[in-house]
Amino acid sequence: MSELRFQQPCDEAALADWQHVHNVIIPTHPLSLDDVRERAGRNHLEVAYLGDELVGCTTVRPPVDETRTATVIARVLAPHRGRGFGAELYGRGLDRARELGADVVETVVLSSNDDGLRFALKRGFVEIERYLLPGDTIPWIDLRLPPR
Ligand SMILES: CC(C)(COP(=O)(O)OP(=O)(O)OC[C@H]1O[C@@H](n2cnc3c(N)ncnc32)[C@H](O)[C@@H]1OP(=O)(O)O)[C@@H](O)C(=O)NCCC(=O)NCCS
Repeated sequence: MSELRFQQPCDEAALADWQHVHNVIIPTHPLSLDDVRERAGRNHLEVAYLGDELVGCTTVRPPVDETRTATVIARVLAPHRGRGFGAELYGRGLDRARELGADVVETVVLSSNDDGLRFALKRGFVEIERYLLPGDTIPWIDLRLPPR
């Protein structure tokens, strides 16, 4: 059985925990609590804890348009990496995306996140696009899982 406890960020404490993980891992795009609340309304978000300790968070953007493309992103705080938690978070996100009817699954990694890029490539994702958002200096990488 998993050691982790998962929670959807439906109260202020869990919203703040999701925000903390996001902003530590993506310092170039810090989100406000209102930003996180807005995302919680349109995406499936989860926060993961080991006991009371914050471990990571996930984002599943539901399938869009006729391609039924969903996006799954797992994030684990550095001190908790390399213990299989990322795989567990990602697996839950992937299951959720499939339940929501995704035919195609993508992820997005900040190119400076070496761990994230290696993790995605090892799980079969293939780079499809590298781009800078306005004001950015570090490129984002979109990756896609080949069809099953
Ligand atoms: C990607 C990310 C979520 C992985 O988190 P993690 O908890 O380290 O993931 P895991 O522990 O499941 O796997 C990481 C590595 O540890 C290894 N590992 C897992 N359990 C292990 C164990 N018990 N002992 C030794 N190694 C282990 C895995 O084989 C894996 O190796 P790999 O990266 O060479 O494939 C984390 O690095 C992260 O948050 N990155 C930034 C966010 C990001 O870019 N996310 C996009 C990816 S969807």
